[in-house]
Amino acid sequence: MSYQSTFDRSIRQPEAFWEEQAKAVSWFRFPEKILFKDEKGLDRWYGGGRLNTAWLCLDYHVEAGRGEQVAIHYDSPTTGVKRSITYRELLDEVSRFAGVLKSFGVEKGDRVVIYMPMVPQTVVAMLACARLGAVHSVVFGGFAPRELAIRIDDAKPKLLITSGGGIEISKVIEYMPIVNLAWEEATHKPDACIVLQRDFVPVPLVPGRDHDWNELMAKAEPAAHVEVEATDPLYILYTSGTTGKPKGVVRDNGGYAVALKWSMANIYGVQPGDVYWAASDVGWVVGHSYIIYGPLLHGCTTILYEGKPVRTPDAGAFWRVIEEYKVNVLFTAPTAIRAIKKEDPEGSLRHQYDLNSLRYLFLAGERCDVATLEWSQQLLGKPVIDHWWQTESGWPMLANSVGLELLPVKPGSVSKPVCGFDIQVLDATGRQMPAGEEGIVVVKLPLPPGNLPDLWNDTVRFKQSYLDPYPGYFFSGDGGYIDADGYVYITGRIDDIINVAGHRLSTAAMEEVVAAHPAVAECAVIGVHDNMKGEVPMGFVVLKAGINIGEEQLEKELVALVREKVGPVAFFKQAIVVKRLPKTRSGKILRKIMRNMADGKEFTMPSTIEDASVLSELEDTMREHQ
Ligand code: COA
Ligand code: AMP
Repeated sequence: MSYQSTFDRSIRQPEAFWEEQAKAVSWFRFPEKILFKDEKGLDRWYGGGRLNTAWLCLDYHVEAGRGEQVAIHYDSPTTGVKRSITYRELLDEVSRFAGVLKSFGVEKGDRVVIYMPMVPQTVVAMLACARLGAVHSVVFGGFAPRELAIRIDDAKPKLLITSGGGIEISKVIEYMPIVNLAWEEATHKPDACIVLQRDFVPVPLVPGRDHDWNELMAKAEPAAHVEVEATDPLYILYTSGTTGKPKGVVRDNGGYAVALKWSMANIYGVQPGDVYWAASDVGWVVGHSYIIYGPLLHGCTTILYEGKPVRTPDAGAFWRVIEEYKVNVLFTAPTAIRAIKKEDPEGSLRHQYDLNSLRYLFLAGERCDVATLEWSQQLLGKPVIDHWWQTESGWPMLANSVGLELLPVKPGSVSKPVCGFDIQVLDATGRQMPAGEEGIVVVKLPLPPGNLPDLWNDTVRFKQSYLDPYPGYFFSGDGGYIDADGYVYITGRIDDIINVAGHRLSTAAMEEVVAAHPAVAECAVIGVHDNMKGEVPMGFVVLKAGINIGEEQLEKELVALVREKVGPVAFFKQAIVVKRLPKTRSGKILRKIMRNMADGKEFTMPSTIEDASVLSELEDTMREHQ
């Protein structure tokens, strides 16, 4: 089927298009209203439809004869454990863990926060929530106690599920101290905490609060699935916004199931039975959509890899996994490829493995530089597809939809809009930019199924963040342009969100922490270019008058503070003392100029600048620190 005709139809007749795609999903009751407005005036998909996402991921396949197919290959080079779990086995575990959740009183609509490493039990916990119609909220392991506490207070979970810890390359990350601090800091207290013990980090359980996963599972009764409305929430996934408070992106059941199922075949070109590997983390949206829900909804075998692209044990790790499990499609972040390239520039380790099963490499999570794309193309001899999406969308918005038609790859571009996404580039006043000219990337409403319908308990922020900036459009927060052939190029965020090694972080959250240091009068944290991680944060601080502290000492303290309050994943390593920050006359810090200056890029002096001499001062300071 041609891409263009399918895309055109999806935009011209969105309801008819998505009604047809919904038929690929097995509903308990087929939706009556394909697209409608809810009581808040927000677009919703599949009104009246009833289904259960976990049932679709498991029971459906077992009933259809796929029970003995491997659902998950768990491969953990960090612990030396490998385990292949069939659909039937996964269904059994999920049903029993759903029984455990039920015994704690978890019901449809209740929230459960999951703070776990990359182990099969994390998938079991998520699917068990979905089986009961409960709403999971997974928190990435690299976040600090404060970030976990913020999410607990916002989601107000009935239960917290965690583990003794994880391993990052060879370093043990103990989760319980983080959980304990977060528990103390959060105002909301969950009823209980379920703890998965791991051999390498046994933890004492807190009596009356903690319960051992294995003990609970040993006596668990399986629980049946609960039918939910298509519009009921499946999960909340917190993501960085432009303030210190993360946004609780809500995902519904019906639209997500249809969108993911469609994407597996039409974007990634995989069929049921194929092996699909998203080398990401379950704590990120990529993990939710393409380690778990997408592959399982589609009857594929997924890989849960508790390792890194390098040093577990070497830069051939990805190629080893591809050979071992005959992976058909690999999805990772460009930073992972850059990490491999750095350690094995010639790609010689690739030749030790048979990669014949691999059809495509997909990249996303951050801008993919042309060198990385071309290096991986040459190394693998397969199409390498850069594609663009966000936590908010839940699935790709711009991609070469290879399942429909493999379009020519243009390095630097994320290809063309995915079916259902009417992507446009506007100027600040909302006018469409001509071909080749950079502006703000927006999506004309309605967004297709699978996208966030709202923010958790914060419709005001949802509207302010995404709908109000350009009425009639979804505001993505990214800049970009469309060339004369309709290929889209994403040039980067236009707000204060940065992407560090494919991890989305808020500089505002870091600024809050830095500003709280007693020596700091004011500060700005910006993202600067980094060859390996894409971007890394850099802090600029102005000291309070009369403060006498060495720059090195202050930097050490600020680095430790951000690590403690935001988490190691923020990778905040540099803080520079400056006399003043460049500002507009109304007092707004000119972060974009600072970013361009740090990256050695050209910038135009804004007419609104308060005092232009601060820029040359800043340039001198930056030069000194290079
Ligand atoms: N739990 C606890 N800590 C974590 C963590 C987790 N799940 N993930 C990362 N961290 C910590 C690391 O241990 C490290 O801490 P350190 O400063 O004490 O060493 C810090 O956070 C930064 O980690 P990371 O960004 O992963 O850098 P790295 O140098 O260890 O590894 C890469 C670099 C490129 C190998 C790694 O970032 C990677 O695999 N990235 C792919 C990202 C990805 O999949 N993104 C999802 C979108 S597709
Ligand atoms: P996240 O919500 O963590 O998935 O991060 C989303 C952000 O990552 C987007 O808004 C972009 O800024 C960036 N991003 C994701 N994929 C790409 C890509 N292929 N090219 C450029 N930027 C990307």
